[in-house]
Amino acid sequence: MIQMKNSSLIVYYSWIGSTEVVAKEIQRLTGFEIQRIEEKKNRKLGKIPGAAMGAFLGLKSRIKPMDFALEEYENIFLGAQVWAGKTSPAINNYLKKASFKGKKVWLFLTKGDEKIPQQVIDSITKRIEKKGGTVIDSMSITTKWDPKVNLPIAREEVEEPVYEWLKKSGFLEG
Ligand SMILES: Cc1cc2nc3c(=O)[nH]c(=O)nc-3n(C[C@H](O)[C@H](O)[C@H](O)COP(=O)(O)O)c2cc1C
Repeated sequence: MIQMKNSSLIVYYSWIGSTEVVAKEIQRLTGFEIQRIEEKKNRKLGKIPGAAMGAFLGLKSRIKPMDFALEEYENIFLGAQVWAGKTSPAINNYLKKASFKGKKVWLFLTKGDEKIPQQVIDSITKRIEKKGGTVIDSMSITTKWDPKVNLPIAREEVEEPVYEWLKKSGFLEG
C-alpha cells in the first residue's frame, strides 16, 4: 500500500472499542498517525444510562491533554459513535477544543442501528464548519454491540468497508 498524502491524522474516541478497531484499520492501511481521545474520569463499562443521558443532554466531559492545535495536518480522520442518537460527551468537548480551521475532515462513525446516522453526521459537520473546517466525506459501520458482552467489532468485519472508503477517497493506491 502506498501512502498518497502526508500530514494526515486519525483521532478518535472509543468506549467499548469498536471505533478504535476502525481507527486502527485506517492506520494499518495508511500508516497515518493516530491519537486517542481519552476522558479524565474512568467511565466504567456497563454504566450505560449515565453515558446515554450525558450524550442526550449534549454534555461535555473532561478529556486528557492532547494536540488540539492540529497545526501540521491537512486531513483529520475523526472517529466517533452514536450515543442516544447524538455524540458522546468526550467528542462534544473535543469538537469544542480542536482547531479545525482550514482542515479537511473525514468522519468515520460506528453505531448499533443499521441506518446511516445522518443526524450525528450533520451535527458534527455543523460544529466543524463553524470553526472553519470542511467535512469532505463520512462513512459509518454498524457494530451490533451487545451490552452484556461488551466486545468490540472484529477487525475482519471492518476491513473491506474501510479499504473501499479509503480507496474511493484517494488515500490508497492499487
Ligand atoms: C451509551 C450508549 C448509547 C448508544 N446509543 C445508540 C443509539 O442511539 N443509536 C445507535 O445506533 N447506537 C447506539 N449505541 C451503540 C454504539 O453506537 C455502538 O456500539 C458503537 O460502536 C460504540 O462505539 P465504541 O465501541 O467505539 O465505544 C449506543 C452505545 C452506548 C454505549
